[in-house]
Amino acid sequence: MITLVHEGRTVESAVTPAPGELSIALLGLGKVGSSVAALALDPPPSLTRRLRIIGALVRRPAREPELNGLVALTTDAVTLLESQPDVVVELLGGVEPARSLILAALNGGIPVVTANKSLLARHGDELLDAAARTGTPLRYEASVIAGVPFLGTFSRRPLASDVRRITGIVNGTSNFILSTMTSEGTSFADALTHSQRRGFAEPDPSKDVGGIDAAEKLSVLLRQFGGWSVHPDALDVSGIDGLTVEDLRQAAVFGGAVKPVIHAEWTGDEAAAFAGPAFVSGAHPLARIDGVQNAVCLVGRSGELCLAGPGAGPDVTAATVIDDVLEVVDQDRERQHAAYRGARRPRLTEAATGWFVRVTAETKLPDGRDVSDLLSADGVWLRRVSDRGRCRNATAQWLLTYPCSRTRLDRALLALCAAAGCSTFAIRALEGSRE
Ligand SMILES: NC(=O)c1ccc[n+]([C@@H]2O[C@H](COP(=O)([O-])OP(=O)(O)OC[C@H]3O[C@@H](n4cnc5c(N)ncnc54)[C@H](OP(=O)(O)O)[C@@H]3O)[C@@H](O)[C@H]2O)c1
Repeated sequence: MITLVHEGRTVESAVTPAPGELSIALLGLGKVGSSVAALALDPPPSLTRRLRIIGALVRRPAREPELNGLVALTTDAVTLLESQPDVVVELLGGVEPARSLILAALNGGIPVVTANKSLLARHGDELLDAAARTGTPLRYEASVIAGVPFLGTFSRRPLASDVRRITGIVNGTSNFILSTMTSEGTSFADALTHSQRRGFAEPDPSKDVGGIDAAEKLSVLLRQFGGWSVHPDALDVSGIDGLTVEDLRQAAVFGGAVKPVIHAEWTGDEAAAFAGPAFVSGAHPLARIDGVQNAVCLVGRSGELCLAGPGAGPDVTAATVIDDVLEVVDQDRERQHAAYRGARRPRLTEAATGWFVRVTAETKLPDGRDVSDLLSADGVWLRRVSDRGRCRNATAQWLLTYPCSRTRLDRALLALCAAAGCSTFAIRALEGSRE
């Protein structure tokens, strides 16, 4: 027996599992943690082992009414870990105390399953190093595209994992907002409110719409597929909040759509990576990924492989977490030793892509030939130019450029604005599967 605090009272929790049962110490009983507990308490027939939640760590035990009495709640993490569960499942979110508790579990030889991309993005090297050093399994399948179990599969297949480029949509909130703006013709603010009402956006959506969540997932993917250690703050990140309905309409006229994209490619000791909205041409596999769907396209030895599916949601995430639990208890510890050889810091370079540019002017837009001449003087070449329209009470025109770096584009747009008295807003543009 261990002593846990439940609803402010001290209660006892049976920790001796029945034969064949797996005991789980659950760190966090929020949206995903509650779904994990519900699955453990009422397992579907397909679950091959019985699971017992020996206790759940929370901050405020009184705030967890649904599982009241069914799961012993505690604010005492140390006692919970000392009860020697078969697996620790970390669903707290954030960096601390999640980092310290996972390290304590790994150093004590207890396998860990987590869905915490923020932590993995910032401290993944340290955690994977502890797992490899102690030979203790650490799994994090639900941290990126929770409903598509691909990280574990690729980690067991070194040649399939020999990837040199990743492109994807890994934030369902941003994808839902842009899809709603496109299909309903609503503003960013209205689409955000709609997605909050549907439960697809947090009350504070800044990490999702600002691109931070996507950048964290990109960091996890860079480590997994490239062996690169890149802090999300070092990435080129932009959000979707500057986009207008008119931008999305023009993207359709250009034969594509605007999507919240992550992209990374590498060669030698150099890597280029970004997270942010991008125009994707109709030929691109990501052009068809709508709503809360996520997808990742990997380019490696066998050409391009794209996987798509639900990116989040408590039930989807909980199912992936539990599949991880079943895998870690059977995982050969030698494999965890061998799985991680350390990550290297790449020399980060600028990705050269096409650009989708909105040019606006209060009074008169520059002549198309002048725009082309001014931009080409700085090495930016136009692929397409739209008809003139209106955007935010100004005259507007949209451009698609051939690939160049952000530095080159910014220099050219600065010169254009200075010479022609206009304003610009630019996002990246990806053509087919070649960029
Ligand atoms: N939601 C999804 O669909 C989804 C999908 C993929 C991955 N994830 C990841 O899964 C993790 C959990 O997400 P969630 O949506 O379930 O979060 P959540 O609803 O905010 O739940 C967090 C839980 O952790 C507890 N907690 C947080 N900090 C704590 C602390 N310092 N001490 C003790 N307890 C603490 C909270 O307790 P109190 O309520 O008492 O504060 C709550 O029970 C995150 O890493 C998230 O990124 C979520």
